[in-house]
Amino acid sequence: GSKNFNEMLKKSKEIISTLPKREPHHPIFECYQYDGFWYHLASLESALCMQQNFKAQPCDIFVCSAPKSGTTWLKALTFSIITRHDDDITNNLLFTKVPHECIPFLEVDFLSNPKIIDMELPLLATHLPYSILPKSISSNNCKIIYICREPKDTFVSLWHFIHNIEAKSLKVPLLTFDQAFKWFCQGKSMYGSYWDHMLEYWKASIERPERVFFIKYEDLKEDTLGYVKKLADFMDKPFSKEEQERGVPQEIVARCNFKNLSNLEVNKSGKYTTAITKEISNNLFFRKGEIGDWKNYLTEEMAKYIDDITLQKFQSSGLTF
Ligand code: A3P
Repeated sequence: GSKNFNEMLKKSKEIISTLPKREPHHPIFECYQYDGFWYHLASLESALCMQQNFKAQPCDIFVCSAPKSGTTWLKALTFSIITRHDDDITNNLLFTKVPHECIPFLEVDFLSNPKIIDMELPLLATHLPYSILPKSISSNNCKIIYICREPKDTFVSLWHFIHNIEAKSLKVPLLTFDQAFKWFCQGKSMYGSYWDHMLEYWKASIERPERVFFIKYEDLKEDTLGYVKKLADFMDKPFSKEEQERGVPQEIVARCNFKNLSNLEVNKSGKYTTAITKEISNNLFFRKGEIGDWKNYLTEEMAKYIDDITLQKFQSSGLTF
């Protein structure tokens, strides 16, 4: 009930007031460390409120990712797969709203609008690490689809995103490339450490492959059609023979590809409002969509530094990039 909820909110604020804060202070991206991960204040508040209070339904599917690893694309694909029998929904929403409005973020939208859980589609997204997800997600054995991306490319994408948000909202951008790099490598990026974020979901996907589907952005690019079919199977919405003959999976791939999505008017000039970033332009979610763009931004030394962390963190896990 709401009493319970208000008490929980009060309690989470108390907990957060005792947590280590990321230094130097950043007016938009203020971060706190909780149970090994770094969070923006607003998402940590709602994560803590939701841990016991959010009631996932057994049929809910969660699209999970760290920021800048392909979330927008995966949202568009899963949304298209699940709504494909109702062209009205798919057309109306995917063509007129940024994918983030088609599938809300659990921790970003929950506090400001707890009604999101009344949504009709059984699809929700989150950037939260596996270990802090609401308890009901695992107790109800909900399905999880996780996407991650090569760390150097993720960092470069993250850097552009933050820099663009700063440039729009602050008179003078504060974060230097070097500071952002340092934070990322130290695990002090939002929802970081990025490597631990990937590892937690990776382990879950090994333990429960029928419930946790682990995807790499690079693999999704290489064989989008194959993954769209696998995703549909995983979501219990397999393409029928007749749909395959009609080329429905191909259509979804084409609709969600970078060029097509980024050229939609809503994604070129529309805006999207969240509790964290306030109002941002949808086009910030579509930059290049390429593999290996890190080469244009990282020195050889920086690249090696990240690669060494990746090797060290993932050793013996079976996860590689
Ligand atoms: P770049 O900044 O490298 O271009 P997220 O959606 O998790 O915020 O990740 C954003 C990254 O995914 C950006 O990477 C963005 O360009 C890329 N992206 C967005 N839509 C895409 C699509 N349809 N296909 C491939 N990449 C996409």
